Amino acid sequence: MLDSLPNNLDALWMPFTANRQFKADPRLLTAAKDMHYTSADGRQVLDGTAGLWCCNAGHCRPKITEAIQRQVAEMDYAPPFQMGHPLAFELANRLIELTPDGLDHVFYTNSGSEAVETALKIALAYHRARGEGQRTRLIGRERGYHGVNFGGISVGGILNNRKAFGSLLAGVDHLPHTHLPENRMTRGQPEHGAHLADDLERMIALHGADTIAAVIVEPMAGSTGVLLPPKGYLKRLRDITAQHGILLIFDEVITGFGRLGSPFAAQHYGVTPDLMTAAKGLTNGVIPMGAVFASGAIHDAFMHGPDHLIELFHGYTYSGNPVAAAAGIATLDTYREEGLFERAAALAPYWQNALHSLADAPHVVDIRNDGLVGAVELEPIAGEPTKRAYRAFVRAFEKGILIRTTGDIIAISPPLIISTEQIDELVATLRDVLLETA
Ligand SMILES: Cc1ncc(COP(=O)(O)O)c(C=O)c1O
Repeated sequence: MLDSLPNNLDALWMPFTANRQFKADPRLLTAAKDMHYTSADGRQVLDGTAGLWCCNAGHCRPKITEAIQRQVAEMDYAPPFQMGHPLAFELANRLIELTPDGLDHVFYTNSGSEAVETALKIALAYHRARGEGQRTRLIGRERGYHGVNFGGISVGGILNNRKAFGSLLAGVDHLPHTHLPENRMTRGQPEHGAHLADDLERMIALHGADTIAAVIVEPMAGSTGVLLPPKGYLKRLRDITAQHGILLIFDEVITGFGRLGSPFAAQHYGVTPDLMTAAKGLTNGVIPMGAVFASGAIHDAFMHGPDHLIELFHGYTYSGNPVAAAAGIATLDTYREEGLFERAAALAPYWQNALHSLADAPHVVDIRNDGLVGAVELEPIAGEPTKRAYRAFVRAFEKGILIRTTGDIIAISPPLIISTEQIDELVATLRDVLLETA
């Protein structure tokens, strides 16, 4: 296996990676099966991150692999503009069986970032289609992650993702994030912070509701380090947006497809938005695909005028690509046949107890969890933020578990097929790592 490794790593400019550091000491993965990766030096590495929050059914699942192989031999590509193919429709019908009631239209993209851009554009165009084209303002949230394209980083709230890239979109505002110190060590949804949604009222008072097109939030903020919505917060956002004709967009790129034990976070938290984005678990991460789910009211607002005219001037060459659609259908089959969303819900209490057993490990300042996701936040090394968690990440990989870090937060989100023994292994190894890197 080592023979087949590249001997020059220079040509590839790696995404969201410390390139020079990586290339000096590379971590290469060469195979994957179920809960494990194989590293280039032949070790089995327990996947604590479902790849990058996406391989919810685990790796190299036969049904998905076979569906892709079959489809790529049958019809590799079909143009999605003014043409169609059955699988894209079949997948859309399967998806709306899983979405909250009322979100029954699907627009395909190729990634979470594109799903976000698409949702923002649909929101703007929807208001215009209804004669309220002055509603152009978009509201995101501090610490929000909505991918890396210009709309997404504009409504996003992560400094490093924004500061190098110019003036971004105009007319964007941000709600405060929901990470409050009094919620430390909470199991599940925190008690404090529903009132933070009321800041939207202040923005409405400042800008006028009739200038605001949409509010976009992650129902559970993943990439910033697993920030859970305080009890009552999402409902309050829903009430305020509905009252003022503002669309509510849930970015469910991470939370979609069972991460919290329901198909989507919308169902888990009991709040239905007007638009919802998804990607990642839609195809188990195997083939790039994203989607926006829209309510009937939004979709129908476009279905006017002469019927030979295009209603929405937006789409991608690979929207609903047949191979991706085949992967999506096989992925949904796998989730259903193996009851994986229910499995995540059933494992959640065990997961919670296991994670919170780390409360006394060195430098742990907070632990939070919901469904099959969790975070262990570490005290930063004085003057060297991110270094402690990065060290833990490297040591964890050496010891056979894959975790993810953001700042000094360790985020864990295993495939939903994880066993209780593997949860124990993950947590015990993490404890050793924290002891060793203390
Ligand atoms: C909430 C959210 N939105 C959007 C994205 C961007 O997805 P992608 O990397 O597929 O563009 C991510 C990726 O992690 C995400 O977590």
